[in-house]
Amino acid sequence: MRFWFIVPAAGVGRRMGGVLPKQYLKLGEQTIIEHTLYCLRNHPAISGVVLVISPTDQYWPQLHLPEYSVPLWVAEGGVERCHSVLNGLYKLQERAADDDWVLVHDAARPCLRADDIDKLINNLQTHAVGGLLGLPVADTIKQVDESGMITKTVDRCGLWRALTPQMFRLGLLREALNNALSVGYIVTDEASAMEFQGYRPMMIEGAADNIKMTHPNDLSLVKTFLQQQGRAI
Ligand code: C5P
Repeated sequence: MRFWFIVPAAGVGRRMGGVLPKQYLKLGEQTIIEHTLYCLRNHPAISGVVLVISPTDQYWPQLHLPEYSVPLWVAEGGVERCHSVLNGLYKLQERAADDDWVLVHDAARPCLRADDIDKLINNLQTHAVGGLLGLPVADTIKQVDESGMITKTVDRCGLWRALTPQMFRLGLLREALNNALSVGYIVTDEASAMEFQGYRPMMIEGAADNIKMTHPNDLSLVKTFLQQQGRAI
């Protein structure tokens, strides 16, 4: 049984502001994307990583990455995240089999822990469908209309936030993403595409520090979390 990573990194990160895409912001000596890849490319269970970057990316070729035990290939990104992931799957299938497991992980989540990769693999490798890391919703959830008025308080019982990695079989995920796209459904995560096919992915509780860098303040949070994990900044 083999496990691969696809890392979509072809977004521009508009909500971060600034001209530099968020994955290329620097934290200490390294960029966010290097901090993200560090965890995956040192993990003994992983056979290879496909990094998906924008065709107009000028920053990636300028990085000087150290040698890691896990090999890395680059694929071209698409218009939306789901197109980028699909391109990554096509690149991967040059080396991987349809029933190999693929873990899709956002480049913008540099605080992923090796423990959480282990947890996903250990819980899901015998599962029929696969699943993802998530966190139960802790706050009270409100539904709000366009004018900002609350229309409803949503019962948070059973509500979870979807994180990454999301782990599915290569062939089934490719089929699910293609089917969703063929009806114009732009999924924002892999589990949504699988659900659309009628599958029921498993939710596995992950670490709370696996945040996605979205707003400018997240950079200092990521720094704190990486330091708490003892990672070199
Ligand atoms: O925009 P958002 O933060 O949801 O993006 C999540 C991940 O998907 C990021 O790592 C981003 O670089 C990636 N992405 C991509 N291709 C796109 C849009 C986003 O690879 N077209």
